[in-house]
Amino acid sequence: MVKKNTCVFISGKGSNLKNLILHSRDNNFPIKISLVVSNKKKADGINYAKKYNIPYIFVDNNRNSCEKKILLNLKKFKISFICLAGYMKIISGYLIKNYEKKIINLHPSLLPKFKGLNTFSRMLKNKEKKGGCTVHFVNEKLDGGIKIVQKSFFIMDNDNELILKKKTQELEYKALPEAIIKIFRNT
Ligand code: GAR
Repeated sequence: MVKKNTCVFISGKGSNLKNLILHSRDNNFPIKISLVVSNKKKADGINYAKKYNIPYIFVDNNRNSCEKKILLNLKKFKISFICLAGYMKIISGYLIKNYEKKIINLHPSLLPKFKGLNTFSRMLKNKEKKGGCTVHFVNEKLDGGIKIVQKSFFIMDNDNELILKKKTQELEYKALPEAIIKIFRNT
């Protein structure tokens, strides 16, 4: 199997990046993590790139120079698939057009519910019965593309934001690899 050269975008802890790196060591897993992009110099997740010898770049907040740097590096590392795993920045329409149906995003809610930020506090405020995560293709609408995998859990009376995050991330570690396998199943 020829693995797809994949770039993972992060902004923080990178636990999903780590999970993908470990999965990608399996010969049958369809992707190889060839590049990591972070918009935060202090993102802990960069340590996983360092530990596993994966090239990484930082991007700043200047939209034009940032996009240029990303596109140049995507070319340089022959990236054919992009995974947004905790990337807390909106990517440009130009990038989306260049990688149509080749960018996926992981979101900590049962989309279309709770698009955007602060999902857990809004879920509690709304007295939701279920939480979960969604992996979807990225289009120009925020958290709006076609769903690939969605997983849910029941919210208990005592659950707080921290517990919701933990329950969500446990599902994310299954959902993201599952979505990637599903996308490349017939290729
Ligand atoms: C994940 O829970 C992901 O769903 C969320 O950020 C976390 C990153 O965790 N993404 C978003 O909120 C995107 N809007 P990680 O850095 O430990 O992988």
